[in-house]
Amino acid sequence: MKILVTGGAGFIGSNFIYYLLDNRPEYEIVCLDKLTYAGNLKTLKKALNNDRFTFTKGDIADRDFVDKLFQNNQFDIVVNFAAESHVDRSIEHPDIFLRTNIIGTASLLDASKKYGVKRFHQVSTDEVYGDLPLDRTDLFFTEETPIHTSSPYSASKASADLLTLAYFRTYKLPVTVSRCSNNYGPYHFPEKLIPLIITRALNDESIPVYGQGLNVRDWLYVEDHCKAITMIIDKGREGEIYNIGGHNEKTNIDVVKTVLSILNKPESLITYVKDRAGHDLRYAIDPSKISRELGWIPETRFDSGIKKTVEWYLENRTWWQDIINGEYKDYYNKMYINR
Ligand code: NAD
Ligand code: TYD
Repeated sequence: MKILVTGGAGFIGSNFIYYLLDNRPEYEIVCLDKLTYAGNLKTLKKALNNDRFTFTKGDIADRDFVDKLFQNNQFDIVVNFAAESHVDRSIEHPDIFLRTNIIGTASLLDASKKYGVKRFHQVSTDEVYGDLPLDRTDLFFTEETPIHTSSPYSASKASADLLTLAYFRTYKLPVTVSRCSNNYGPYHFPEKLIPLIITRALNDESIPVYGQGLNVRDWLYVEDHCKAITMIIDKGREGEIYNIGGHNEKTNIDVVKTVLSILNKPESLITYVKDRAGHDLRYAIDPSKISRELGWIPETRFDSGIKKTVEWYLENRTWWQDIINGEYKDYYNKMYINR
């Protein structure tokens, strides 16, 4: 079995590669990644020593490059993680989101169709459903919830989902789509909320909380997401969408306070800053379809997952310090100073 994992030098893709190396001895894995600011070869250091793993640098939106890669490898499975993934960056620069997330997915779909891939899995997000009101805790996203996007990021991911499903209906390409809630865990780039809190708190720096910190996200430990994708590839029905989430809703301010308390850092580090434009209020996944059809259930509870995550950042300081001392500094200053 030969599997192409795109975006494998990023957060979830790299965790997925390690999950496969540990749990799928029959898989030969090829990672295609452009190594944007979010991609990091150091993340794949251990995988690069494994002879079942190969890394290729390239852009999923470069059709000639993608075509050659598919011609030279007979991929059985393609899992597309490659994306521009940060909502705040999409508000500043939407264009690159359209190129990678839409055009890039289209180029992978065409190559998968041309070279007879047996399963194309599109890794998507619950953000395609828009948001839920804070005062209706009885409402959840199901696979039937209409697409209703808020940010250029979510709009680009929704477009890619629609294109993927169109290739199933029109060309009978065997596809599946998963829509997961917010992930956390090792190798998470420090522009996102949880690693941003951990790395800044460890440096005794202020923690920027948007608005009043009352927006709700549904957190899932990254390994549970990787396991769900593996089960969808193994047993998921072609042409279907699967929502992935573990009923772990938390307000942002609760998450910040939890991490500060694990690290024994003062709440005086919290700084309320101007809200994100178009900020989604609440995400909450109903995972009953994937539980019922595939038997998936999340294994890591938030209280233990967040402790494991904090420990990982404590034990892997060089990984994140190299990032925050690089071009990330300019990004942080641009986004947060005078906010
Ligand atoms: P990430 O930003 O950490 O990693 C993205 C990776 O894609 C990076 O390694 C980057 O170099 C690579 N990449 C970007 N543009 C590329 C291109 N044109 N060609 C090849 N590679 C390219 O993102 P992540 O958080 O790991 O998310 C992975 C996927 O999961 C994304 O599709 C995202 O929409 C989805 N998702 C993320 C979350 C989350 O909480 N992080 C939740 C649900 C779904
Ligand atoms: P983020 O990690 O960017 O994920 P997403 O926007 O995809 O949910 O943000 C999670 C939540 O945390 C979101 O409600 C925005 C908020 N947030 C802050 O309050 N401060 C920050 O510095 C960041 C990056 C996010």
